[in-house]
Amino acid sequence: MLILGIETSCDETSAAVVEDGVKALSNIVSSQIDLHGKYGGVVPEVASRKHVELILPTINEALEHANCDLGDLDAIAVINRPGLIGALIVGVAAAKAISLAQNKPLIGVHHLEAHMYANFIAFPDLQFPFVCLIVSGGHSDIVYAAGHGQYEILARTRDDAAGECFDKCARAMGLGYPGGPIIDRIAKEGNANSVAFPRASVGDSLDFSFSGLKTAVIRFAQKNESFPISDLAAAFQEAVVDVLVDHTIQAARQKGVRKILMAGGVAANSRLRAVMVDRAKANGFEAAYPPMALCTDNAAMAAAAGYYRFITKGADNLLLDTYATEPLTGEN
Ligand code: KG4
Ligand code: ZN
Repeated sequence: MLILGIETSCDETSAAVVEDGVKALSNIVSSQIDLHGKYGGVVPEVASRKHVELILPTINEALEHANCDLGDLDAIAVINRPGLIGALIVGVAAAKAISLAQNKPLIGVHHLEAHMYANFIAFPDLQFPFVCLIVSGGHSDIVYAAGHGQYEILARTRDDAAGECFDKCARAMGLGYPGGPIIDRIAKEGNANSVAFPRASVGDSLDFSFSGLKTAVIRFAQKNESFPISDLAAAFQEAVVDVLVDHTIQAARQKGVRKILMAGGVAANSRLRAVMVDRAKANGFEAAYPPMALCTDNAAMAAAAGYYRFITKGADNLLLDTYATEPLTGEN
């Protein structure tokens, strides 16, 4: 079954063709990072306009790379929630137009569910149950997945998302946007023990809180202008990684599952990947993660999640709407 995936929820215009939910025949990402970089973050109206320009060429490129045309497709899967509303509307309008013109099923996909399903492309034989840490610019969730569409949310962030914290702290350090990959790179040269930043916990829950860490890093950067940036970046990164790994391992232990997966842009972080794999192994768990290009926003993950959604829950119709905020619950 061939599914065209479309993703326009933030600043990447992406289209992909995926076979049977696991084999990406193409995965084209037209990034707007350079456009938003000069503003230090994504400007929603600028993103929407750029999506309008890029959406059709990106879809055409995805079809070309997959060596197929619209008539060969079995369904269209599009991320319709959550995200920047004007940005989402562009992808959803394109998906509806193709669905209507070609008389193909239309499937609306949740962005976080899509991130998690990148793991089915990376590991086509992946079996349930597992625990997945989904960490992006807008979300930091730990999800227990018992089956397709059967999720229990074990943790969320109470304030900033991990990626947001990376980006805001990078800005305070005078680094560019998005800050996550830059901190990842320069932290490799730094001493992670140079500053003892706080590792916050929220009562007995596995929830995250990154705003205290963010404030501590911003204050430290303001007061210590000549402090080596690589040391500051490494110490900050270690604090985020420590908490993400610790809570995820606790979640896997609570649920009695061996398999830990990761997803979302922050799962591209090299230190998080290394520490998760090591600490999971030391505690009797097994951690894995998709390749970088499947961690950051892309449409192959939308097509993969769309495939499984289609075979378990069926298609949506042309009334499919867009939603700026919608937590992943397992019922949606
Ligand atoms: O999943 P994603 O591409 O888009 C959203 O759904 O938000 O995640 C983007 C976030 C940004 O905050 C970016 O700084 C962060 O992922 N990110 C990273 C790395 N690569 C991307 N954070 C830490 N280390 C990285 N290597
Ligand atoms: Zn994302």
